[in-house]
Amino acid sequence: MLLPRPRSVSKIATFTVIAALCVTCLLLIHVWGLDDAGFRTLRARPLQPAADDGLIPKKIWYKLGPKGLTNDTRAWTSSCIDGNSGYAHEFMTDESGDAWVAARFNASRPDIVASYLGLTIPILKADLLRYLLLAAEGGIWSDLDVSCAGVPMDSWVPEEYRAQAGLVVGWEFDVGWGENIIRQFTSWLIMARPGSPHLWTVVDDIVRGIQDKTAEHSVTVAGLRLDMVGEVVDFTGPRRLTRGVLKSLAHTLNVTAIDHANITHLVEPKLVGDVLILPGYAFAASANTYDEKLRDGLGPELVKHHYAGTWKNKNGGEVAR
Ligand SMILES: *[C@@H]1O[C@H](CO)[C@@H](O)[C@H](O)[C@H]1NC(C)=O
Ligand SMILES: *[C@@H]1O[C@H](CO)[C@@H](O)[C@H](O)[C@H]1NC(C)=O
Ligand SMILES: *[C@@H]1O[C@H](CO)[C@@H](O)[C@H](O)[C@H]1NC(C)=O
Ligand SMILES: *[C@@H]1O[C@H](CO)[C@@H](O)[C@H](O)[C@H]1NC(C)=O
Repeated sequence: MLLPRPRSVSKIATFTVIAALCVTCLLLIHVWGLDDAGFRTLRARPLQPAADDGLIPKKIWYKLGPKGLTNDTRAWTSSCIDGNSGYAHEFMTDESGDAWVAARFNASRPDIVASYLGLTIPILKADLLRYLLLAAEGGIWSDLDVSCAGVPMDSWVPEEYRAQAGLVVGWEFDVGWGENIIRQFTSWLIMARPGSPHLWTVVDDIVRGIQDKTAEHSVTVAGLRLDMVGEVVDFTGPRRLTRGVLKSLAHTLNVTAIDHANITHLVEPKLVGDVLILPGYAFAASANTYDEKLRDGLGPELVKHHYAGTWKNKNGGEVAR
């Protein structure tokens, strides 16, 4: 009884090893095949809207200028698209942006359609388009000069906040500037569920701002020039975004204002109401300087902003040429 035992054990072991190897091979072939097919399908067909699970839709929105992608912007956008294969993406153009706004808001918000289609200044349209897309469709807005730093988008919103986060913004200037700064959220990367009341506030404020300026200068929307609207950062850009979001959030929370002490000098994400505010290092690492002592405790940089486009660029929209 003792002698045959090692033999049969070794037979069983050999069989098990061979079977395991076969199964592993089949699995690998299967997985590679699927991945490759999935990848090609994603690229080839028009992208479907993400599943409506009530969370932030897995779709990245971009807006091309008239000349399309450069080598740089192709590489930067690819780093996010290829690094997040479960995410759809769409490059809006001037034409598809106009068509989408006209079709989407024609019935419900003719004031938005008139403002958007009337505007002739590309950067103002590019700003407004991102808020409209995210407010109506949700997803992830990214400027073309943003690259991903290798952290999967699925993990950008920490698990404990995923069920609540309706809008995700990141500080541009938070730490390292002293206190005499006007803090702003980056407008190059914003994530939202469709219908965020805070983004609708930003949209409404911009539309009202356009109406005020046309009245003030006795021009049509098409007659608005950059010198009439003041600073772009304030009129449609990151300061407008930041003011609108914080005002709306205070309204939702029934407080007169969001206490800045609660949301600044962040070293970890902070949920206030349904707005998740990410620390400066997440979307704007190069614009924030942290104390050496804090460095080890900080989370990862999620994107890099290459400052290739500038809001000062009057002609080309968001990408300098
Ligand atoms: C863009 O990349 C292509 C292929 O690598 C190269 O031939 C071309 O010269 C590049 N264009 C510019 C403007 O750098
Ligand atoms: C918008 O609605 C008006 C009136 O209902 C209609 O005449 C027009 O063709 C519509 N335009 C678009 C772009 O859908
Ligand atoms: C909001 O706050 C005010 C005053 O603090 C209070 O009277 C009011 O009932 C509150 N409203 C809600 C909806 O909580
Ligand atoms: C801000 O912080 C104060 C004090 O810690 C707290 O009472 C208040 O509820 C906070 N407000 C918000 C909007 O987080």
